[in-house]
Amino acid sequence: MEKQRLFLTQFTGEPPLYSEKYGRPMMRKRHLVHEVTPTRAKSWLLCMNEAFKEVGLDKHPMGKEFFQRLTEVASIMVNTEE
Ligand code: HEM
Repeated sequence: MEKQRLFLTQFTGEPPLYSEKYGRPMMRKRHLVHEVTPTRAKSWLLCMNEAFKEVGLDKHPMGKEFFQRLTEVASIMVNTEE
């Protein structure tokens, strides 16, 4: 959760908190140790969608764009066939 906070702060254009602590994000590379299949990417997005609703981000003016960007990055993170 803490890493997500640092990374997503940076990802949405605020200070580079994640890089200051952990170096370059290189998220695809960091995910290579995990088998990210298309189904897991879909599940990740479903969980994130629930989280968005929980904190009201789904109704925020930037919410749709933010989620769209996460959808794009999730597909890049896929590194394993089903
Ligand atoms: C597409 C499906 C995805 C899966 C299945 C997945 C899975 C994982 C897993 C298993 C970890 C390790 C967690 C731990 O060590 O406790 C991780 C770390 C992380 N993920 Fe993902 N992830 C996905 C997509 C994404 C996306 C789209 C983002 C950001 C836009 C993201 C951001 C991160 C960050 C910031 C970390 C911490 C990296 C670090 O160790 O410094 N992930 N992810």
